[in-house]
Amino acid sequence: MPTDMEAVRKFISVLMSTISNCSLYTKSHASIDELTQKALSILNELLTGADRVEIMLIENDLIVNKAPLRDVGVHGNTFIKRIKRRGISRIDFLAGITFAELKQFIADMSETDKEPKTYPHIKTGVIDVRLGGVKVDANISAEALSKLTTQQLEKVKDVYHDFSPFSKLNVAGLEEIVVNFIVTFKKEANILKLISPVKSHSEYTYTHATNVAVLSMVQAESLGVKDKLLQDIGIAALLHDVGKMFISKEILDKKGTLDEKEWQEMHHHTMYGSKYLARIDGLSRIAPIVALEHHLAYDGHGYPKLNVRVRKQHICSQIVAISDFFDALRSRRPYKRDWDIKEILALMQKNAGTDFNPFLADNFSKIVMTTLK
Ligand SMILES: [Fe+2]
Ligand SMILES: [Fe+2]
Repeated sequence: MPTDMEAVRKFISVLMSTISNCSLYTKSHASIDELTQKALSILNELLTGADRVEIMLIENDLIVNKAPLRDVGVHGNTFIKRIKRRGISRIDFLAGITFAELKQFIADMSETDKEPKTYPHIKTGVIDVRLGGVKVDANISAEALSKLTTQQLEKVKDVYHDFSPFSKLNVAGLEEIVVNFIVTFKKEANILKLISPVKSHSEYTYTHATNVAVLSMVQAESLGVKDKLLQDIGIAALLHDVGKMFISKEILDKKGTLDEKEWQEMHHHTMYGSKYLARIDGLSRIAPIVALEHHLAYDGHGYPKLNVRVRKQHICSQIVAISDFFDALRSRRPYKRDWDIKEILALMQKNAGTDFNPFLADNFSKIVMTTLK
């Protein structure tokens, strides 16, 4: 029997108003019990003859029992935002659900920072991320998540330390790293919490690579990019500065400003990186393109000098250029974080149309601004 979508819409609407009331008043407010009971009755009707009601969130659409749920209304949209913020992309309500369970679920959902839980008859989680043959357990706790973030940084560090013009790049290892990034940012809506502060000069290279990868993937994902392409953008971003391993230590670590000749050499990291990555089997073609073009501006200035009439900066390079700019400036004065971020965004807006793709710059600002509210 097909699911009664009108009843689903009603259930979500009542559920969301109960959650809102719960945030506004206290859990013991009279209206909460009444509304919870109403939601439960609709749910029980939906569960007649079925073992579960399965709600999935894919992008901004709800899929209920494998069918898309259209016209969700104001409460439905608030519900989508609410579950998205918690990184939940799937909720299963199972037959046998009790009033107490549903009430607890509503109370937990009304608290913004509470971790999604699993109840006997309500299962929440994120849809398994299976990309490029790498499977990651997405049902991870907050503690495991913070461990994962540290592990990711360690893995990037290992990859970076293993880099040498003569060694083989571990492409599968990179895939695993970026798939884990996806899991992390799907769980944590505040991207500023995901990017790491730079602890010391020696850690800059790989912290910067990690941050640029996360910021680029968040941008791409917000534009609807997924699966393989999302993964490829992450890898390309992770490797954008790989050409720096061909630049001498004296230039890289120089404390004062570089002279003209040193700057020229430094600019070559784009060419070196691109050539190195182009030779690696199994690596997406986006990686050498991004390595080559990430310092090229939207309107064609910047470096290396390319014939802009023939070649325009690739959209993936435009995405990475924005993340690169943001992270490079942000890590200069970490002690004035809030002000700095607004200042960086203002500068980015000022240079939109010349340095940056204006649409992407706008989109990036929106993503970051929502985390500052
Ligand atoms: Fe660079
Ligand atoms: Fe960079």
